[in-house]
This record gives sequence, C-alpha cells and structure tokens, in this order.
Amino acid sequence: MKEFDLAIIGAGPGGYVCAIRAAQLGMKVAIIEKRRTLGGTCLNIGCIPSKALLDSSEHFYHTHHKLADHGIHVKDIQLDLKKLLARKDQVVKEVCDGVDWLMNKNKVERFHGHGKLVSNKEIFIQKEDGSSQTIQSRNIVIATGSVPIDLPGFEVDGKQIVTSDHAINFPSVPKHLLIIGAGVIGLELGSVWSRLGAQVSIIELLPKLFGTADRQMSSLAQRIYESQGLKFYFEHKVIGIEKKENEVILKAINSKGDGIEFKGDVVLVAVGRKPYVEGLGAKELGIQFTNRGRIQVDPHTYRTNIPNIYAIGDVIDGPMLAHKAEDEGIAVAEIINGQAGHVNYLAIPWIVYTWPEVAWVGYGEEELKEKGIDYVVGRAVFKSNGRVKAMNESEGQVKILAHKKTDRLLGVYIVGPRASDMIAEVALAFEFGATAEDVARTCHAHPTLSEVLREAAMAVGKWSIHS
Ligand code: NAI
Repeated sequence: MKEFDLAIIGAGPGGYVCAIRAAQLGMKVAIIEKRRTLGGTCLNIGCIPSKALLDSSEHFYHTHHKLADHGIHVKDIQLDLKKLLARKDQVVKEVCDGVDWLMNKNKVERFHGHGKLVSNKEIFIQKEDGSSQTIQSRNIVIATGSVPIDLPGFEVDGKQIVTSDHAINFPSVPKHLLIIGAGVIGLELGSVWSRLGAQVSIIELLPKLFGTADRQMSSLAQRIYESQGLKFYFEHKVIGIEKKENEVILKAINSKGDGIEFKGDVVLVAVGRKPYVEGLGAKELGIQFTNRGRIQVDPHTYRTNIPNIYAIGDVIDGPMLAHKAEDEGIAVAEIINGQAGHVNYLAIPWIVYTWPEVAWVGYGEEELKEKGIDYVVGRAVFKSNGRVKAMNESEGQVKILAHKKTDRLLGVYIVGPRASDMIAEVALAFEFGATAEDVARTCHAHPTLSEVLREAAMAVGKWSIHS
C-alpha cells in the first residue's frame, strides 16, 4: 500500500493549494479527486467559467450601449453563443491544466477517483473504471467543498429547473430567466444572461441584497442593477412551481401574504450551497459535524475530533469563498508541519463580479451599531475621478467606516468599476491594522481608480481634496 505524509481529499482551491504548500515543506503528498480535471467547483463550474461569461457578456453589453460614446460605431452586432461558451470552456481547460502542471512540478501524487475514509489513516479510492485502491497517510485533509442546496419541490432537471452548474451552459439565451435567491450566484449569472438579452427576475426571501453587508451600499448596488434591467422581488417566499411544455410558473407569497406568479422559461435555483460529504465515510468514522451540517474543526488548527484528520474550505464554517479555502489550505499545511499557520477572517474580501463590481472587507454600519462601536464615515464618489471619466464610467462610491477614537479601519465598501482589484489594498490595510489616515497619507498614483479610495479615507478626517 502506498504511504504518504499527507493525503488531501478534494482538489479545489483549498485542496490543491494545501498540497503545494505541504510539498514545499517537504511532505510526501497525495491528492484524491473524483473529477477528471483538477480545480474543484471554482475552476470547473464556478468562479472561473462565470468570470469568463461575465467578461464576454460585458463586452457584448459595452459594444451595444457604450462604444458609441467613444466615437466607435459598430454595425450588425451579433451574438455567437456557441463560440462564447466554447471560449469559456477553453479558459476553464487552461486553468485546470495549470493545476495539473503545478501538481507535477511539486511532485504531488494525483489519484483520480472518489475518496472514502476507512480509518484514520486509510483512504479507499473508487475509480471510474470500477477498479479501486487504498492508500495510507499519516495526516488527512478533507477539502471536499460544497454543492448547491436543493429547494424542496423544485426538482432540478437541468432544463427548466437548473442550478449554476447548468446556467453556465444554457444552449440559448432564455427569454425570461427566473432566479430564486439574490445572492452572488443570482446576481452574477443574472447579469450575464441579462446582458445577453434575457429578461431577468430575481426572487429573494430577505429584504435586501448581500445579507448583513452595509445597507446603504447594498441599496446603491441594487439601484444600479435595476437601472440595467434586473428586477428584484424582495421578501418573497417561493412556494411551488408548475412546469408546462415551454413555460414554468413560479408561485410565491410576498410579505403581505399575497400570492404572486412569475412566468418564465427557466428557473435558476441559487439559494446557497451545502458541504459535500456524500460517500466520504466521515460520519461512519465518527467525525463530528456542527448543527449546520459542516465538519466541526478546532478554529485554530482545523483539526477534527480525530487528531490527524483536518478539514478546510466549504466543508467547515465560514464564508464559502475560494480565497478563504486557499488561505486555510496554506495554514493547515503549515500547522501539520509544526508551524503557526493562521487566517485573519476579518481581512477576507467579499466580491460580487457584476458591473460595477461590489467588494468589501469588514463590518457595515448596521453591524457596528449592533456591536455598539462608535465610528466615523468617509465617502467618495467615482464620478469625480479623472480616470473614471476617461473610462466613461460614472457610477459608484467608496465608503469607509473607521473607529471614532482610534481611526482604525472597521469596514470598507466599494461599489464601482474594478472594485475587485481595488479591494486588495483594503485587505492589506486590514492585515496591518491600518487607520483611515494611513490610507489617506499613502501616495496613490494619478490617474487611477484607487484615488477614490484615498479620497474616502481623507473624508474620514474631513479633509478630502476633490469634493
Ligand atoms: P448565497 O448564500 O450568496 O445567496 C443565496 C440567497 O438565496 C440568499 O440571499 C438567501 O436569502 C436566498 N434564499 C435562500 N432561500 C431562499 C428561498 N427559498 N427563496 C428565495 N430566496 C432564498 O448563495 P449562492 O448565490 O447560491 O452562492 C453559493 C455560494 O457560492 C455562496 O456561499 C457564495 O459565497 C459562493 N459564491 C461566491 C462567489 C463570489 O465570491 N463572487 C460567486 C459565486 C458563488
């Protein structure tokens, strides 16, 4: 039987990054993955394909609606959806192949098959061709990720009732796409198909976007999305669906208790994801789970109740984000190596890759009020920034919440172009425990979008220059 220092089940961003870090630290590493390609949900059917579709659909939308302002006139704009989807598949292939290359480079041994824990040291691997193999490892990391949550009564058929797995591959643009859940998947895939010509209605249980995130900034984003054509129905509870040959009728109840019907051709169920532990053997082995169905780990060491078995990423508590899983992958490899691996959960950025993008780190105003923390607000709008004008953009705002006494950053929200890139500076500032003044006194190149962030930091101290 093959023996390893570390075996990782699942080759998503958590698992493969953990494998590389462990190999760098001198461990003999195995990675077990049931998909043919590495990279997990994120690279195969999540973050990467959806970003490829977002970029392509942005080009389509810009060509239609924005190029004329630049003096560029394009006639006969046509959508070749087959090619657009093929490009997306090519992007996915290249990033997945890249992970394969990294496994080889780092001498991580790859096993293709479904891994099942049979003891605290052994993993049984069921292969696609019916054969099997058992390997042994001193340490095991579970990084099996998550799958979409089903909605009772909404049986996914891949055609009229779909999950994000299918909505990255629609063979034609839906006429009316009904989306259940105004979360990140609903907003990103809703934006893609809306830009490509679909009517999009999003039905959401809660009263606002982005959960506990800052209300004012989520309202700002909502207004912009609505101006682009997305229709939101907040505080609506879906209660059933009727499928006809070429139509689906979604039934819901609004906050007043009134029944309402939505007619469309496809329903995308995007109500969150749940840990994927099917056939893993974790429960049989006595691994403990939280009451929310995630694997229970010690938050400082990622150890389960079985000391040499660890878990990271979507299967444990915390936001289901690829970069959170990656950081935990690095931390757990270092912990297994006897080092002090650590993740600063307060500095993890959230990003919604719509246009404009929405990104934030830290608390919103409502959370600070609830915690009784006194804060000062600094704001700056994108439209007065020179680079933004050059880009022909105008919408959006940066909002900074800093501690009233210490000036330390508590929350930074960006609704604006390329917020996903700008938020990196914010995460770094949080890591260093920066104050708003630290950001305000840091030289930001001109003309760049990042100047808007600096202006907001200056506004915290009431000395913004350009407003
Ligand atoms: P989500 O948790 O972001 O949003 C689900 C939404 O559905 C919530 O607003 C919730 O209130 C609503 N909802 C739940 N039950 C409902 C019901 N019965 N009727 C109407 N609304 C209902 O989950 P989503 O969008 O499915 O994404 C899954 C996971 O993938 C998330 O944890 C997310 O963090 C991650 N993800 C992250 C991305 C990013 O970082 N840009 C992109 C895509 C996914």
